[in-house]
Amino acid sequence: MTNLIEKIEKLKRDRNAIILAHVYQRDEVQKIADFTGDSLGLSKRAVHTSADVIVFCGVKFMAETAAILNPDKTVLLTEQDAGCPLADMTTKKQLDEKRALYPDAAVVSYVNSSAEIKAESDACCTSANAVDVVKSLPQKQILFLPDKNLGSYVASKLPEKEIILWNGFCYVHEKNIDPAKIKSLKSLHPDAEVMAHPECNPDVIGLTDYVGSTSGMLMYAKESKAKEFIVGTENGLLYELQKENPDKKFYPCNTVCEDMKRTSLESVLRSLEEMKYKIAVPENIRIYAKKALDRMLKV
Ligand code: 13P
Ligand code: SF4
Repeated sequence: MTNLIEKIEKLKRDRNAIILAHVYQRDEVQKIADFTGDSLGLSKRAVHTSADVIVFCGVKFMAETAAILNPDKTVLLTEQDAGCPLADMTTKKQLDEKRALYPDAAVVSYVNSSAEIKAESDACCTSANAVDVVKSLPQKQILFLPDKNLGSYVASKLPEKEIILWNGFCYVHEKNIDPAKIKSLKSLHPDAEVMAHPECNPDVIGLTDYVGSTSGMLMYAKESKAKEFIVGTENGLLYELQKENPDKKFYPCNTVCEDMKRTSLESVLRSLEEMKYKIAVPENIRIYAKKALDRMLKV
């Protein structure tokens, strides 16, 4: 392992590369990253780098976002097949059909979407800023895609808006975390506070003490006086939660994103050695997708 890490470090210097990792990555991958964060944090970090190469340990839509924001840099996704089933739940054809039904609606796409869908959107958002992005738009009617649970959460916070939901979901949150699981963990750990990602079902959200993005949960756990937490998101977040709060206890919901876990230290090394897998977005899509991302980053 040490040998592997040394090789990664050397190649990283030789290539003037930076390693970005999402907080759902394997512990050992998060450990060697230059920066770990949520989708929003990683997007911002991708903009402010002087590196020539961005090695993205995450899933395709995240590397695509980095490529949209950094056309002059080489963006590598560590595993070619690391996708996001939620992002695949919207196609341009479906969006065109839905938009025809709501011609006055602004389209807000969660970053968990393809570059093509971003290019068709008025603004992008992440789970950390979805409420603020929707609030900032002048339109009352918002076509929010693709995650129905995040859309419902936004609607609950902004009753003045009319949110039209898409029928997308993330199996890691929607299928693998349910009220019974939360209640059973709560009965085992009655003093624990419940935190959950807004991709969880509204019935789960109703049982929480805090709802937020992965970075929001990290902040909440640090600031809360509670000593124990039930963590309603992908298991990977436990690594950073425990690192930042060694005196607190965290109980996972045991839910894993298979695509996030594809990347290993071996993938990172291969990525740097072979300069794989290059992610590029056609310019006619990139410029429009960037507009939607810029609108988000301004909020
Ligand atoms: P964050 O925006 O909180 O990083 O979440 C991304 C994601 O893929 C959630 O499933
Ligand atoms: Fe996609 Fe869900 Fe995995 Fe996030 S956790 S990358 S939304 S499948």
